[in-house]
Amino acid sequence: MTKLNNIALEILGNGKGILAADESTGTMTKRLDSVNVPSTAENRLLFRETLFSSSSMTNCIGGVILYDETIKQISSKKNKIPELISSLGSHPGIKVDTGAKVLAGSPEEKITEGLDGLRERLKEYYNLGAKFTKWRGVYTISKDYPSKLSIHSNAHALARYSALVQECNMVPIVEPEILMDGDHSANDCYQKTSEVIQKCFEELILHKVDLKGIILKPNMILAGNKSKDKITSKEVAELTLKCLKSSVPSEVPGIAFLSGGQSEIEATENLNLINKINNTNFIMSYSYGRALQQSALKFWSKNIKDIEGTQKIFDHRAKMNTLAAQGKWSREIDN
Ligand code: 13P
Repeated sequence: MTKLNNIALEILGNGKGILAADESTGTMTKRLDSVNVPSTAENRLLFRETLFSSSSMTNCIGGVILYDETIKQISSKKNKIPELISSLGSHPGIKVDTGAKVLAGSPEEKITEGLDGLRERLKEYYNLGAKFTKWRGVYTISKDYPSKLSIHSNAHALARYSALVQECNMVPIVEPEILMDGDHSANDCYQKTSEVIQKCFEELILHKVDLKGIILKPNMILAGNKSKDKITSKEVAELTLKCLKSSVPSEVPGIAFLSGGQSEIEATENLNLINKINNTNFIMSYSYGRALQQSALKFWSKNIKDIEGTQKIFDHRAKMNTLAAQGKWSREIDN
């Protein structure tokens, strides 16, 4: 199991973080539609390959989460995508859940599926070069939600997934995401996130998952996007640290936040403050999708042939987040 702990530390050590490029074809199509680029397999590969060949892959990006389509694609230079990523010193990973579906018994909520046949799919991904995996449980906050049923059933699925992934010698990313959507307060987010994370660890322990060989991917503690409760970055950092310190067992080597709809700068600034006052023993880094790719995608959509220009923008964001993962970022440097 020390092998899995080493992989987790290689992915998140020295300020490195994760590029979440595992948007399903449906989600990627929405992203490409928003910048008026046709969502063909070729275009999806072209944008992703541009990011995966950039120089920050060596110094900043310790791991890339891929989607099933991408892990099987061949780059324009005839490299297999996982090999391209490994050759630059990063680790390829793969999203293995098959999406969030309506939860029977509480149809306003979601349960993440994908356990059937997972052991066989994991073997395939391992043979394709994956070193780690991702599974995302998703929860919304409102008066009655998340329900005990959703908290319990998603934790159970995350734990069964993690046990299977470790059996196949890969590091599971455990991602319970409480969405920012809604008018809840930061305090509501704090309470619900604590409950969700604690339940996840209860189930992970029950399923004999080695906590030294996982990465936790939580949301930061934020007020809902329709809330009147506006909190400062410092408060976000303090509440996030308080929540994780009291809910995450000390064996866990690293925590990599999702950006969850924060702007690029917000996600970087909050991560920076978390690290400036980090009073835990956990590595606190990033596993961002939108907050790493948004500006690069916007530029690329208008300059599809400008690989270097796109990479420059992506490299800048990766570098800023790697500084933030060490508490060394400032707005002046970013500008
Ligand atoms: P965002 O950073 O865009 O929230 O995506 C991270 C992710 O992997 C969500 O599952």
